[in-house]
Amino acid sequence: MSLNNKTLQLDEAGRLLHFLTVDGLGREMLTEILDTAEGFTGVSERTIKKVPLCRGKVVANLFFETSTRTRTTFELAAKRLSADVLNLNISASATSKGETLLDTLRNLEAMHVDMFIARHASSGAAHFIAQHADPGVGVINAGDGRHAHPTQAMLDMFTIRRHKGDFVGLRVAIVGDILHSRVARSQILALNSLGVSEVRVVAPCTLLPSDARSLGVHVYHDMEKGVREVDVIIMLRLQRERMQGALLPSEHEYFRLFGLTEQRLALADSQAIVMHPGPINRGVEMDSQVADGSKSVILQQVSYGIAIRMAVISMVIGAQNLRMQEMTP
Ligand code: NCD
Repeated sequence: MSLNNKTLQLDEAGRLLHFLTVDGLGREMLTEILDTAEGFTGVSERTIKKVPLCRGKVVANLFFETSTRTRTTFELAAKRLSADVLNLNISASATSKGETLLDTLRNLEAMHVDMFIARHASSGAAHFIAQHADPGVGVINAGDGRHAHPTQAMLDMFTIRRHKGDFVGLRVAIVGDILHSRVARSQILALNSLGVSEVRVVAPCTLLPSDARSLGVHVYHDMEKGVREVDVIIMLRLQRERMQGALLPSEHEYFRLFGLTEQRLALADSQAIVMHPGPINRGVEMDSQVADGSKSVILQQVSYGIAIRMAVISMVIGAQNLRMQEMTP
């Protein structure tokens, strides 16, 4: 898998062709994404919030599944890079009239789209699009089923680096519905690749994949023990829409056992930060006081999402430009 992901995502010169998963990219590439995003954070604070890096390029947002934060921050990121953006409302488009995904892609390619940003309920959808898209077209995965959400993981890494300076020596706890979370899978890969000293997952047995330990994490079923002395707490939403059958007695019981309260937060390091990819369910995975408290960096995650998405889009488009130059005699 790693080797395939490497060859699928990087060209012969090691430049980013697609961004489908954190798997196979390695610490150097992840650090390059973070460093590139660093340069873009200032753009959002300017009077004219634009740079011309992707002028004349067309980016298509293909969202087959609902999204607020991810879709809008991808759109803003592409616009701040001066690209033209197409937002396809798939439920109202031709696929619902029976057109296949491949036919939708071919039609967009006929309009000379340079990049697809894809979210889909099926794991592997972004890989499928990358394998079938025209060789010159870049694909970014904006979340596929339970599999991966690499730009979310990278904006989380960016938030951690901004607050903690370095990854080495950090203890990070990811709490909640690990089983259904593409975010958790991508975060675990990124945290391990960037060299944190300990990744913990804290969840009831019913919300953990059976092979959790093979992901390179320490497993906790007790919230108090799981968050003790950690530097970062990442809370996850209960992904009800992906659950089949009763995996939990009730949301009330879940909050009692795994909800993040001020008391539990006090067990973590005194400088700990609290993160959540959103959308938050207040009173289900965390107390409102914690979500809005001084240790919460949840809204910063959203802002940094724009810089990270600008970084990834500009790296993929920049690599396309260089390959074009190399091919012209
Ligand atoms: C996440 C997702 O869609 O996977 N949200 C997001 O991208 N901001 C997590 C979630 O839906 O709980």
